[in-house]
Amino acid sequence: MLDTIGGTPLVELSRLAPKPGVRLFAKLEGQNPSGSVKDRVARALVEECEARHALVPGSLLVEASTGNTAIALAVVAKQKGYRLKVVVPEGVAPSIGYILETLGVECVESPPMAGMRGAIELADRVARAEGGVLTGQFYSQANIDAHYQGTGREILAQLPTVTHFVAGIGTGGTVTGVARCLKDHLPDVRVIGVEPHMGEVLQGIRCVDEGFAPPLLDLDRLDGRFLVSAAQALQLCKRVAVEEGLLVGVSSGATLHVALRLAERVEAAQIVCMFADSGAKYLPANPWEAAMALDPRLDEVHWW
Ligand SMILES: Cc1ncc(COP(=O)(O)O)c(C=O)c1O
Repeated sequence: MLDTIGGTPLVELSRLAPKPGVRLFAKLEGQNPSGSVKDRVARALVEECEARHALVPGSLLVEASTGNTAIALAVVAKQKGYRLKVVVPEGVAPSIGYILETLGVECVESPPMAGMRGAIELADRVARAEGGVLTGQFYSQANIDAHYQGTGREILAQLPTVTHFVAGIGTGGTVTGVARCLKDHLPDVRVIGVEPHMGEVLQGIRCVDEGFAPPLLDLDRLDGRFLVSAAQALQLCKRVAVEEGLLVGVSSGATLHVALRLAERVEAAQIVCMFADSGAKYLPANPWEAAMALDPRLDEVHWW
């Protein structure tokens, strides 16, 4: 099962392309076995722990996550014979809790006000108290390497003429690893990081200026950062569903929104957006319908 991680399709979104010279592409990470880009990272984190002989059969892995990494680690831990405990901030999308419960993953909730930093600190305490091994997605170099060796190289092979890459910023692993890979081969490529507005939460991505600067994020490799509102992200999720037939997660709507804004500024480009997960796990709350109602209060609501 772990061999099926990565190698995800890069598809053209021809119906959403705004002008003839600009082509839009999406890297469909929802097609990984646990349904998100984090399968790549979970495997790399655990294999890094194995390489430094930190694990024995049955070892306890501990991680802080808003959901996708926790779900991905569940697959990797089961396949490799480890136990797993995850710290998830209270208030993430409800279906993430159901998925983790169904997978039989032990969860500890951290207070939402303590943010991601609070979740990371709690994971640290849990690991110490229970003799667990921290997989460390927020600071392990393995996170970046998974994107350099995997995501980045795949994009280069699939679209050697890529001009722009757009990805959300959570740990910063995707944007940093892919930026390093693409820029090593294509010095003129532009890499853009996407964040929600201060105070807003979109599943998996955070505002860097809000008090937690992800240690792995290499801002020197970025050509720009773009703030996207919850309403903008959700409206694009709905558009990609209706116009292209793809059901994608909330952060995919955010990257697509930024790709379309970039497209307004250039005459010719081949823009790759990261679609980090698919939309199924967000269905119970049906946020897309609310977004289409153009409710201005959406900007004040947390859509995870
Ligand atoms: C849905 C989603 N999009 C984007 C990201 C951001 O990816 P990264 O942590 O590599 O910055 C995450 C991370 O958890 C995510 O779950």
